[in-house]
Order: sequence, then C-alpha cells, then structure tokens
Amino acid sequence: MEKNIKFPVVDLSKLNGEERDQTMALIDDACQNWGFFELLNHGIPYDLMDNIERMTKEHYKKFMEQKFKEMLRSKGLDTLETEVENIDWESTFFLRHLPQTNLYDIPNMSEEYRAAMKDFGKRLENLAEELLDLLCENLGLEKGYLKKVFRGTKGPTFGTKVSNYPPCPNPEMVKGLRAHTDAGGLILLFQDDKVSGLQLLKDGVWVDVPPLKHSIVINLGDQLEVITNGKYKSVMHRVMTQKEGNRMSIASFYNPGSDAEISPAQSLVGKESEYPSFVFDDYMKLYAGVKFQPKEPRFEAMKNAAATKDANPVAAVETF
Ligand code: OGA
Ligand code: NI
Repeated sequence: MEKNIKFPVVDLSKLNGEERDQTMALIDDACQNWGFFELLNHGIPYDLMDNIERMTKEHYKKFMEQKFKEMLRSKGLDTLETEVENIDWESTFFLRHLPQTNLYDIPNMSEEYRAAMKDFGKRLENLAEELLDLLCENLGLEKGYLKKVFRGTKGPTFGTKVSNYPPCPNPEMVKGLRAHTDAGGLILLFQDDKVSGLQLLKDGVWVDVPPLKHSIVINLGDQLEVITNGKYKSVMHRVMTQKEGNRMSIASFYNPGSDAEISPAQSLVGKESEYPSFVFDDYMKLYAGVKFQPKEPRFEAMKNAAATKDANPVAAVETF
C-alpha cells in the first residue's frame, strides 16, 4: 500500500458542528475518488453492533461452519495446489428487509438474533436514506431526489448478506470474494474489526479497507454511478483470504425497487450522457451472470438493450 494513500474516514457527528463543510467535502471527495468511505459516530448504537457480532459468530460456529467444511471436502477444495478462479471462500446467508422481510423464514436464528437483526436493519435503512440526502446536497440535487428514484412503485429493495470468511490454508490460491463492483445503490458494511481482507482498487493499486472498531464502511454501487452520470463511481473491490482468523462481514444493500427507472439526473448531464437508462430489475438480470466482470460492458449492454428494446432476458437469480 502506498504511504500517501489515506483511506477516508468520516466522523458523522461533525455534521452538527463547525466542521460541517469540511465533512461534506470529505464525503464528496470520497464519492468521486474512492467510491468508499468509513463512518464513525453514525448513530447506530455500539452495543447493538457488539450483540450482532457476538450472535453472528455464534450462529456461524453452530450452524454454518460444519456445512462450509463439508462443502470444501465434497468439492475437493480442502487443499489447493493451483489457483481456483470460479469460487469464493465465503459462507453466507441472506436476509431481506424490504419490500418484504424474510427474517422469519430463515432457519436456525434465535429470537434474540432475529430481533437484533431487525433493529439493525431498520437503523441501517435510516442511515442509508440520511446518506442519500447528503449525497443529494453535495450533488446539487433536491433533497429526497435519490430516495425518490430508488422508490419505484414498491419502495426500495433492502437486504443484508451475512458472511464469514473462514481461514484458508492456501490464501494465494483463492479469493474470499472475487473482484466486482456492486450493482445497486448504497452498501453499508459492518466488518470484523480484527481480521482484515477487504480491498478496493484505486488508481490501479489494491488498497486495504482498514478494520476500525464500530465503524460502518460505505460504498457506492453501479446505480449511483449511472444516476450521477459518472460524477460518483462504483469501485472494484474484493476480499482476500487469510491463513488465520475468521472474518465476519455483514453487508447491507440499499437498492432501487425492482421497477425503479434509473437514468442520469438531468442536471448532471451536459450535452449527452454516456450512461444508459433502464429499469433496475433488467440491470440485475444482466448483472447476475456477469458480476465478476467490469461494469463498463454492462452499461454498454443496457444502452444497446434500450436501443433495440430487448432487455436481455437472463434468468433472475437472487443476488445483491
Ligand atoms: C459484497 C462485498 C465485502 C465484504 O458482498 O458485495 O463486497 O467484506 N462484500 O464482505
Ligand atoms: Ni461488493
């Protein structure tokens, strides 16, 4: 990692004081040049985060770890002698909060864990909407603009991917999660404060997203790049595997509703936009098959689909 690279850390409590302007500028710079920033004093109670962490780790030990090990054995992955490029070394499950929750359909969650996840999800949803308005302010868009675009007719899609990245005996042979940009809107990540692994690609260099206790890491998905006409960027990121330690990561995706119409905001478009306009669900159908490829061909494909009115029929897969 280059020495002069300083990962943007934003103290949200400073929005209420003298340093508001600098804080807004820091967020704007991060959205333009990093696609990522890390939040402290974000208003989500630290004891709630501690409980979520404890229960997520217990849940993994009790219900997930054995399954992960069996999966490795059945696929012959317990020892790797050559690089594998089509799998991710992660153990995950998905919670959907909006438009309808599936929290009560997930097996093996204690009532306490479910309740904490529901509370955490609601607070993250509120934080996401607060952040969208900060982005609007920085972009010169009217307050509520992004939230409204994301709403569609059924409200936003909001879900949480609960992941563990177990220790890996051959870290050089496999990624925890292969490099990708996120398809959706705003991603809010509660990551392990001890075991690192998340990296983003900045100016051709992989940079660590440093573990920081009780922080929430924010990153921008492809939709925000489209809506801002490229002023803000979705940035490639990946998770490296580690020899020691199990990395917890709880990533929540605040995305447009399936029928939301996405297009570059008029006021941010000069002569003509390079970016396509589409219905969010059509983008997701395309993304499901090409997640681990660069985003530019996706934008291009959506432009072509609009031109031919053929929205690329690919089977829908639940993916964030
Ligand atoms: C993702 C992702 C990062 C992490 O799920 O899209 O980038 O640290 N996760 O789990
Ligand atoms: Ni991601």
